[in-house]
Amino acid sequence: MTEQDIKKGLAGVVADVTAISKVNPESNSLLYRGYPVQELAATQPFDAVAYLLWHGELPTDEQLAAQRAEGRRFRALAPEVKAAIDQLPLDAHPMDELRTAVSVIGAIETAGEDVLTAVGTPEENIARSLHLFAALPAIVAYGQRRRRGLEPVDPREDLTYAQNFLWMTFGEEAAPVVVDAFNRSMILYAEHSFNASTFTARVITSTLSDLYSAVVGAIGALKGPLHGGANEAVLHVFDEIGDADNVVSWLDTALAEKRKIMGFGHRVYKRGDSRVPTMKAALDTLVEYYDRPDVAALYAHLEREFVERKGIYPNLDYPSGPAYNLIGFDTLTFTPLFVAARITGWTAHIIEQQRANALIRPLSAYNGPDERHIEGYTPDT
Ligand code: ACO
Repeated sequence: MTEQDIKKGLAGVVADVTAISKVNPESNSLLYRGYPVQELAATQPFDAVAYLLWHGELPTDEQLAAQRAEGRRFRALAPEVKAAIDQLPLDAHPMDELRTAVSVIGAIETAGEDVLTAVGTPEENIARSLHLFAALPAIVAYGQRRRRGLEPVDPREDLTYAQNFLWMTFGEEAAPVVVDAFNRSMILYAEHSFNASTFTARVITSTLSDLYSAVVGAIGALKGPLHGGANEAVLHVFDEIGDADNVVSWLDTALAEKRKIMGFGHRVYKRGDSRVPTMKAALDTLVEYYDRPDVAALYAHLEREFVERKGIYPNLDYPSGPAYNLIGFDTLTFTPLFVAARITGWTAHIIEQQRANALIRPLSAYNGPDERHIEGYTPDT
């Protein structure tokens, strides 16, 4: 085996086929089940896109109504989940809170099953996916309110997914422009082929483990700042810079220290992330609504300087971080929002993996010490 045979970080490796999404870095496009993501973001409610990812087609009105009726059963925070979260320190990271909550739901839902039956059929796993999709907003909202010392807010049956998410988080009805920007962000974050967290979920599924275990693992993978954690990290960068006038000196120092600038760069897109224009347009509407030209100025200045110096473009986390900040989410809640969106893509991949499974088990090239022996050891025979 030569150095060239080793695909560090699995870069460039095509690990399997998928019919869920197509990322095309050449044309800067992203398709979910064939539909350009920007068309879905402009026209669909998020739960219709969830249906598309799970079933392969957009729902009819009746199908969407049936999915909504079923999902609404899980919108309220389950008492066991609330009890588990309440045991965690207030300064536990919300991603750890979320990981724990999904683990609790999984333990309850698969109670009494053995490892062979817990895996469930693809049909059962679509139902489990809908359960997590519907339950996650309550968990995220509860976490933010708990950290702020606020009482939880009950879900509302009459609201859409995005409206209800914002209602449960902030306890008031959000303006349509805010709902629209939030809905778009959820759709843009929903799915992105074999990214690190989705691949983690597929690896776990490939052992015939259950959907909840796969999602818990995916949450762990998404937490890292080279992946989902970057949207949180972008806000730390904005806070550090403070004002657009400080961009040049801040960047001089950061690059001299060889820091990675969060929200820029992508393993697949090298000429710009296909999702950024749609999310940037949503951010622009929020900047106008909240009257925050300072945010737009800092955003534009840092982008211009960094792209000019490094030729590395923003990824989706760059516009979504400030958008979530303007809406009023705590910075630590940003990556959990990514989870609430990506649960759709993860679970679609879990089901796809399950339908055509092969255990994922790559090889490694050993570079440790040559064979050696314990001094004084003599074999028995
Ligand atoms: N800031 C500074 N330099 C960067 C950045 C960045 N954000 N991104 C890449 N580079 C540089 C690297 O230092 C490296 O330079 P070198 O060749 O001189 O060593 C070169 O560009 C190639 O970078 P890699 O990290 O090898 O590229 P890779 O494809 O492995 O990484 C990654 C992609 C991890 C996303 C990287 O761009 C990064 O760390 N970005 C910041 C974190 C981030 O925003 N993550 C979000 C990902 S998208 C998402 O989850 C929605």
